[in-house]
Amino acid sequence: MIEKIEKLMAEIEALQAANAEEAEALRIKYLSKKGEITALMNDFRSVPAEQKKEVGMRINQLKAAALDKINALKSQAAAGSQQCACIDLTRSPYPIHLGTRHPLTIVRNEIVDIFSRLGFTLAEGPEVEDDWHVYSSMNFADDHPARDMQDTFFIESHPDIILRSHTSSVQARVMEKNQPPIRVICPGRVYRNEAISARAHCFFHQVEGLYIDKNVSFTDLKQVLLLFAQEMFGPDTKIRLRPSYFPFTEPSAEMDISCHLCGGKGCSFCKHTGWVEILGCGMVDPAVLEAGGIDSTVYTGYAFGMGIERITNLKYQVKDLRMFSENDTRFLDEFVSAN
Ligand code: DAH
Repeated sequence: MIEKIEKLMAEIEALQAANAEEAEALRIKYLSKKGEITALMNDFRSVPAEQKKEVGMRINQLKAAALDKINALKSQAAAGSQQCACIDLTRSPYPIHLGTRHPLTIVRNEIVDIFSRLGFTLAEGPEVEDDWHVYSSMNFADDHPARDMQDTFFIESHPDIILRSHTSSVQARVMEKNQPPIRVICPGRVYRNEAISARAHCFFHQVEGLYIDKNVSFTDLKQVLLLFAQEMFGPDTKIRLRPSYFPFTEPSAEMDISCHLCGGKGCSFCKHTGWVEILGCGMVDPAVLEAGGIDSTVYTGYAFGMGIERITNLKYQVKDLRMFSENDTRFLDEFVSAN
């Protein structure tokens, strides 16, 4: 009997279980009603009286050791399965993947930063606007084609409420609340009812600039835009202004910069002209000043507007506009900003 107990004790000490099921099988094998240790206890009756004390003690020790061992195997198995399910302790924490600023945000911040150094302050207006701020106050005639359903998104059942199609609407918002001197830069998202392709999107971003004071001239406009172009695209950048038309400015112009890819020599990017268009601008039309409650006999002003996607494309040569809104991290990770 003693020998049998010692043999079982050795067995118990060497037990191993790979998982909870194996540990439970061992409990059944040794400690259940028909288990080997239970059977030993049943045999206890036939042990001679003088050995009963020692055998009894040894059986109790064996049973306690078996219980301890099997419980330990069970909790080891449970801890192991928990670790596998939720944490991989072998995985290195590096490199930690940090997000990056969106390229349009980087360029927007750069534009705003350049103009704030010239004394422009930030102004914003709503994306869901009324016809007055987007068109009428900006001197668009009632039958101007830009109001057409093809360009403008209308809010259903409210023909007067639209998604703004340009940030020029913020000019009107600023004028109605402030008297000159006004010097603001207004970045924001705009919407146009266009089929989405590599070159057009139904929403994009613009930055509007407005400066109104006494004696503001076209020369002031030109000088500020030259400084902007050189800060944005490098000190050798040249600008040229071509006559154009916008309802809200008179005279109006479009501005080109010398192509910074070929230095103005001509390449496929600038269609071999040496110039690329970057913005629209002009002197604020007196009708716009009056609509904004500003006396056009006392004050003059200039305004300009540019597309942030356009400036970003010029800086980074993004060929497909859709990349900006697809949120593919392989694209976004290419842009690293200092702030
Ligand atoms: N609002 C014009 C557009 O969306 C851009 C623009 C042109 C804004 C000339 C201006 C400006 O302030 O003077 O195409």
